Amino acid sequence: MEKKMRLDKLLSEMAVGTRSQIRELARKGRIQVNGEIVKKPDSKVDPKKDRVVCDGVPVIYAAMEYYMLNKPQGVVSATEDNLHRTVVDLIKSSSPKRKDLFPVGRLDIDTEGLLLITNDGDLAHSLLSPRRHVDKTYYAEVEGALPGDAGQRLKEGITLLDGTPVMGARLEILGQGTAEGRTKVTLTIQEGKFHQVKRMFEALGCRVAYLKRLSMGSLKLDETLKPGEYRSLSLEEVEGLKKGRGS
Ligand code: URA
Repeated sequence: MEKKMRLDKLLSEMAVGTRSQIRELARKGRIQVNGEIVKKPDSKVDPKKDRVVCDGVPVIYAAMEYYMLNKPQGVVSATEDNLHRTVVDLIKSSSPKRKDLFPVGRLDIDTEGLLLITNDGDLAHSLLSPRRHVDKTYYAEVEGALPGDAGQRLKEGITLLDGTPVMGARLEILGQGTAEGRTKVTLTIQEGKFHQVKRMFEALGCRVAYLKRLSMGSLKLDETLKPGEYRSLSLEEVEGLKKGRGS
């Protein structure tokens, strides 16, 4: 079924300009649809079929975009920030870039790893909903050694130092007492409380020295992506997240 939308909406969603800039572009005859100059910004176009061109550059409409970013340290999980670069600044995406991309959840400024960046609010909502209990797996390096009963206590659900109880989590120890004096682990949690992983280890008397997210629901970090690099999700990855709603 053909679904039409206003030309100025399509162009502004694809970040060609503000509505008034787009009106001006149209007035000057700089916008074409299927080879014809269109001067009315409220003209209806079919984003799937009509070829929209602005100043000779085709504007390809993508209703939804999905990116997997390997978040580097020093970048904030936000859409705008006065002090730091944001994760959205790292996505160069389609040209021009959509203006409504946002990160699904937050990683701390010093945390690396998997971050989903999209403009699909429904998917984000379902992945972040506390009722859905979507698995998130982190790789952590913890200073010193963990208590012997850490795995059991985390499995049963521990209480953070401020008295907040958290759900049971799965701990896997990869290496204890390494050369740097760190214990290397993975931890899978189903919630997303503020600084949750760091605070869970703090409750066990340990400090997290390095943290990286490896997966969120069915989505796994593509290990070929270096920190700061990203790629589009495959259709299978998007479907997997939607079907399992992440779990
Ligand atoms: N838990 C944390 O403590 N920090 C993160 O960035 C993510 C989970």
